[in-house]
Amino acid sequence: MSQDNAKTVYLKDYQPPAFSVESVELTFSLFEEQCQVRSNLHIKRQHPGQLVLNGGQHAEVLRVEVNGELLHESGYRVSGEDWVIEAVPDEATLTVLTQLQPQNNTTLEGLYKSSSMYCTQCEAEGFRQITLYPDRPDVMSVFTTRIEADKALYPVLLSNGNLVEQGELENGRHFAVWHDPFRKPSYLFALVAGDLQHIEDSFTTMSGRAVTLRLYTEARNISKTEFAMGALQRSMKWDEEAYGREYDLDLFNIVAVDDFNMGAMENKSLNIFNSSCVLARADTTTDAGFQRIEAIVAHEYFHNWSGNRVTCRDWFQLSLKEGFTVFRDSQFSSDMGSAAVKRIEDVTLLRTAQFAEDAGPTSHPVRPDNYMEISNFYTLTIYEKGAEVVRMIHTLLGAELFRQGSDLYFERFDGQAVTCDDFVRCMEEVSGRDLTQFMRWYTQAGTPRLQVTDEYDAATGTYYLDVRQSCPATPGQEQKLPFHIPLAVGLLYPDGTEHHLQGDSTLVLDVTEAEQRFMFKGITQRPIPSLLRGFSAPVKLDYPYSREELSFLMSHDTDGFNRWEAGQRLAMAILQEQIGAIQAGEELEVDPALIAAFERVLDDTDLDYAVAAKVLTLPSEAYLAENAQVIDVEAIHQARRRVRKVLADALCARFRERYHATEPDGVYAFHGSSIGQRALNNLCLGYLLATEREEALELVRQQYAEADNMTDSMGALAAVVHSPFTTVADELLEQFYGRWSEDALVVNQWLSLQASVAGEGTLAKVQSLLQHAAFDWRNPNKVRSVLGAYGQSSVGFHRADGAGYEFLADQVIHLDPMNPQLASRMVTPLTRWRRYPAARQAQMRAALERIAAQPLSKDVYEIVSKSLA
Ligand code: PHE
Ligand code: ZN
Repeated sequence: MSQDNAKTVYLKDYQPPAFSVESVELTFSLFEEQCQVRSNLHIKRQHPGQLVLNGGQHAEVLRVEVNGELLHESGYRVSGEDWVIEAVPDEATLTVLTQLQPQNNTTLEGLYKSSSMYCTQCEAEGFRQITLYPDRPDVMSVFTTRIEADKALYPVLLSNGNLVEQGELENGRHFAVWHDPFRKPSYLFALVAGDLQHIEDSFTTMSGRAVTLRLYTEARNISKTEFAMGALQRSMKWDEEAYGREYDLDLFNIVAVDDFNMGAMENKSLNIFNSSCVLARADTTTDAGFQRIEAIVAHEYFHNWSGNRVTCRDWFQLSLKEGFTVFRDSQFSSDMGSAAVKRIEDVTLLRTAQFAEDAGPTSHPVRPDNYMEISNFYTLTIYEKGAEVVRMIHTLLGAELFRQGSDLYFERFDGQAVTCDDFVRCMEEVSGRDLTQFMRWYTQAGTPRLQVTDEYDAATGTYYLDVRQSCPATPGQEQKLPFHIPLAVGLLYPDGTEHHLQGDSTLVLDVTEAEQRFMFKGITQRPIPSLLRGFSAPVKLDYPYSREELSFLMSHDTDGFNRWEAGQRLAMAILQEQIGAIQAGEELEVDPALIAAFERVLDDTDLDYAVAAKVLTLPSEAYLAENAQVIDVEAIHQARRRVRKVLADALCARFRERYHATEPDGVYAFHGSSIGQRALNNLCLGYLLATEREEALELVRQQYAEADNMTDSMGALAAVVHSPFTTVADELLEQFYGRWSEDALVVNQWLSLQASVAGEGTLAKVQSLLQHAAFDWRNPNKVRSVLGAYGQSSVGFHRADGAGYEFLADQVIHLDPMNPQLASRMVTPLTRWRRYPAARQAQMRAALERIAAQPLSKDVYEIVSKSLA
């Protein structure tokens, strides 16, 4: 396996661009067989060095002119796909003519066709697939874009900024000219041409400007646009109130596109969304789906400041915009719904998926220092851990200083392309705090571990917490220096009261040393510590809690997150001892402490329903796997099933009581209390079915038949599909498909449900789904629904015979030539081979080696070679 196009790029080699692009005029002539792009670049020298224009395999260069003169052979050299222009005046106009075939571009990068429309995706390096350009985020320019196309086929022509001109052309064609007054990097460029419908609304900004808001889709989806429009308006308002950020143009467009590699894209004033991340309706979208859409709409909107007005100097700084923007959207979601539930969900994702990534062969710091293919670095580490890093700054500074720091950052760097250091320096300046050591969160990979022990001296009333930190080695980083870790703690007395630390119930300790002792005076009894409240840092925390202490914290901790966490710790301990027993071939009683704890939660009708549903959810198999020394997939699966069944049998009457104890009020509504009710109902239904009693099956049938919303239909369907009642499952699956076969987004939920079943039969099912009329290799949502879900299917994928690995390898090989970005993501489950027992390791490695033996894209090559290294 060797790949000459797979060069590594290093942060230390960063050089500012020799030339700026003062402005650029683009003309797109769209035709069915080919499209032409003419680009005029007004360039100006800024530094010594050569002019480098990046190119791509999808853009055939027809002609390059410098100041109207054809560029001579001797005037440039081509290095890979880049053009190095040797002799060029310090100020010049370059004209580039390229030809593209968007209809054949299956990579979904650059200009491509999705169903009947043209659209673009330029982040990170897609613009070079359209025209030769210094395609790097620190080259910011003013774009004017003219689009010409057939008027009947493409009545809607969109690009960034304001529409400045439109009109008719010969042969049934028409044109539109868009001008974006804000300087931006090429990755924020966008164009859409299609036969689209839209809904329109408006937003009046804090300074009283009216902004027109439009959401475009193909006609068949227009009934699913209202929710996202409302979410956009809520986001605009929130960003004004929480961050003082006002929208800056008179128009904001969102377009829904079916074929899209990622969730959505923040192109200036023309956000492009994967239709699955924007289209919603009660009968087709689950509550989780609505929440996700609201968060993504907010995320992309927030990028207008954190990403667009202030952008990244280079792609190593990606988390500057992504970490900060995820932090912002999580604050927004907390404010819109339940803050505790949002935190629990974020931490769950982080601890299962990001921690696993950080412990694997592609582990990298929040600011990586090298990459082969930047598309591979849109990771949970950059996004979710990056958001945790920003959150820690918020915790260390407090809300007020953090806001001052963010104001300073936006003001100082408006219109510039900057670095993570620039962001942190603003936070230092407003607070007077030294964040030098804190910067290690950006440069060192891996999940730190905190080992906490304590000591109580009754004679002096002194309590000590001893904190020891460490961080495992990660690829390329053998030794780690201590992190600056904000450790939020509270101390509870056995009677349930809380000791006040410096006037507050929670104190944030600055853990900065490898070993550190903290002393608390005036402690009247040995307290129970509540540690890492609100999950104040992305670390693994060990403290030798007894099961009694965990049960105590579950009921008495004043920190909502830690009440849930205590339950998770208790369940983990019990699940882990069951795993051990299964491995030893023994039978072990499930500790009644867990049943008692669950019973207390089920009896507590005052507890927020959504929180109750989270507390009553056992840690996932993925989380158990992440916490295992060696991942024994079968034992994990069996242990979790067993504990669930024991809980379900023991508390059957309670689950029955709580199931529909409170009927959601009237028709479906997406709001806090009814979301919580549905979550708790569906949780209870799942446990009732886990008893494997026929009467539970009746409840499933009834709920499925009566549901007026997708949360309840899916709740019932998922419960039975994941149960042993396969006949009923098949019957309902067929009914479901019959009802929804015309709705691709619903069919995707149907596909992924079947592909995620932890069972022997899943491989055969997945193979047949690939042949199903509903499947389409060109559509990433379909591929993710089947292959992505299958990779997460526990024993469904990790079969003892290794057939799951073989199968996935075949599919990756098939997909890579079509869509490298997507193929590279589908490999992930195989890359984790080191965590499994020897026999599985060998099978997974063999599958990876088979992939490695193929000619590969840079994307897949990087992931596979790093995971075999
Ligand atoms: N920048 C997008 C976001 O997080 C994600 C994205 C990356 C989309 C690359 C497309 C391509 O909001
Ligand atoms: Zn983003």
